[in-house]
Amino acid sequence: MQPTWTSIKEAVRLLQSKEIVAIPTETVYGLAGNALETLALAKIFEAKGRPTFDPLIVHIAEHSTLNEIAQNIPPQAHTLAQAFWPGPLTMVLPKKPCIPDLATSGLPSVAIRFPAHPIAQEIIRLCGFPLAAPSANLFKRLSPTRPEHILEQLGHKISGIVDGGTCSVGVESTIVSFKNETVQILRPGAITPSMIQALVQKVTIQPSNSAPGKAMASPGSMDTHYQPRTPLHYNTKAYPKPLPPNTVRLAFADTQHPLQATLNLSKSGNLLEATANLYDYLHRLDRVPHELILVDPIPNEGLGIALNDRLTRASLK
Ligand code: TXA
Ligand code: MG
Repeated sequence: MQPTWTSIKEAVRLLQSKEIVAIPTETVYGLAGNALETLALAKIFEAKGRPTFDPLIVHIAEHSTLNEIAQNIPPQAHTLAQAFWPGPLTMVLPKKPCIPDLATSGLPSVAIRFPAHPIAQEIIRLCGFPLAAPSANLFKRLSPTRPEHILEQLGHKISGIVDGGTCSVGVESTIVSFKNETVQILRPGAITPSMIQALVQKVTIQPSNSAPGKAMASPGSMDTHYQPRTPLHYNTKAYPKPLPPNTVRLAFADTQHPLQATLNLSKSGNLLEATANLYDYLHRLDRVPHELILVDPIPNEGLGIALNDRLTRASLK
């Protein structure tokens, strides 16, 4: 049976009543709630099964809202906002008091994004308040890039799902923070290090930071994340043989391997196409019982940096 998706108007009504609704963005679907209302924020954490130490991204739909929710904004942040907003870039900045502590897990900073998706923008504008929205998946599981993905994981736990088709980018936004003159990339995404480097002088890439004893610059960047239920092994070449029976292979480009590929992220080796397909293909392979999902190596450059980040986390035990 075809599910009934929520209209934009109904989504706005629900969000105004402090309910939570999944909405499309260009990266992945977000589980949205009023960012200024703790009740709505609590419902988001509850539905996802997400620990409250993992802060949320606040979504806006006007450049001017930035100054209403953040303060002491460095010039580099304005430069990046002008260049990449609306788009798949999230900036962590000192927060203003109007943002509840629950949204930021008690941190003095808030993560802010201006999504490019026209439906997300329309919903935020009609609501008249910013929307907190983590990816609309259960904690640590695969992010959704199609409305059906949300139905599978969260269908019965949320008030609605707005159908915006397939997300065009396919991986979560690039997250950056600012320290002195330096832009720190906390999570790689479609806005690549070289795109940022072209505009600001100093850029660093924050290594995975959940190792014991290390301070967390981005509390949500756990080593294990973005995981299918089926065990996943990234980089087919390095798998210690023999492969378990009932292994499926997710290919990239024309990589040679004795096991025939079930799906190919991009036959031509196009990273944009591979990124857009990644979560949908993993959802598809994960729906059927398999013992192992084997994924071909992807070049660690440009958009491939984000793919390598997600697949590495998806593969860890
Ligand atoms: O593309 C995206 O960013 C999607 C769509 C829906 O916009 N959202 C998304 O949200 O990926 P989520 O919750 O899955 O990831 C947000 C991550 C957190 O896990 C955390 O690592 C980081 O953003 N974050 C949020 N607030 C932060 C803060 N104040 N300081 C450092 N990192 C923060
Ligand atoms: Mg997420």
